[in-house]
Amino acid sequence: MLKSKDLLGIRELEVEEIELILDQAEKLEEVSTRTVKKLPALRGKIVANLFYTPSTRTRISFERACKALSADLINIGQLPTALGETLTDTALTLQAMGVDIVVVRHHLAGAPVQLARNIGASVINAGDGAHEHPTQALVDAYTIRRAKGGIEGLKVALLGDIRHSNAAKSNLFCLLKLGAQVTVGAPSTMIPEGLADFGCQVFHTTEEAVDSADVIITTRVSLEYGNDKLLPSLREYSRFYSLNTERLALAKPEVMILHSGAINRGVEVTATVADRARPYLQKQIAAGVTVRMAVLYLLAMRRGAV
Ligand code: CP
Repeated sequence: MLKSKDLLGIRELEVEEIELILDQAEKLEEVSTRTVKKLPALRGKIVANLFYTPSTRTRISFERACKALSADLINIGQLPTALGETLTDTALTLQAMGVDIVVVRHHLAGAPVQLARNIGASVINAGDGAHEHPTQALVDAYTIRRAKGGIEGLKVALLGDIRHSNAAKSNLFCLLKLGAQVTVGAPSTMIPEGLADFGCQVFHTTEEAVDSADVIITTRVSLEYGNDKLLPSLREYSRFYSLNTERLALAKPEVMILHSGAINRGVEVTATVADRARPYLQKQIAAGVTVRMAVLYLLAMRRGAV
């Protein structure tokens, strides 16, 4: 059973809890192959999707996961901040309406923790600022485990804007806990201070990071938040860091390429590599529904609702 009522980050999860979620996802995977892609497990339970910043994959896969488990889903379209309401007041409003699980994405690191402290409902962090995005890391770990048969001992390269990416931080914690050898490749402005202390190898070239990699995870440069200012120019980033076919050739021939979030073609990966990665990305996106079903199911079980 999961130890906390909430899923706020990978850093605080024990290895057994990560494995429990991945194992549960494996059991639930066949639901999406059924003619009727549904289980009654969360019938009568209410889940609220509260997204303060844009999302395609996470938001929709939580919606799909809720529907597949027969939960009632409230998609909060108009943001309460538009009317000046604080996160805590919004949380208490949701609590009064009997919401069991809140899925929250917020631009501020720590917002889901604040929410979790103020309501009895379970809170799932769907990405908070530059902090964590635990379900994305679980999705990536699940996708790798299904394709490679395990994670321990694999060489996984994380590329791109690690400093500002909540998914990359969660990936790092998750993969290291599961025994992968993690290398990071990015310019120094995109690497958080002290990253090597967590047990990964930090490089400032893509070539060194991807050398003999079994898996490469490319991270989005979030142009919408002005993170291109970390670079002299996007053209220079593309020239020196983008995952192109020449750099990809340094990895193992059967290398798996994953990318969480919307791809900037020609920035973090070239269009050719993005197209080559597409079969893996389709698996990653499909796993997004399965793994989020597992998280919802296990949190509901912990609440005694399953
Ligand atoms: N991986 C991820 O968070 O993607 P979205 O921004 O599309 O949800």
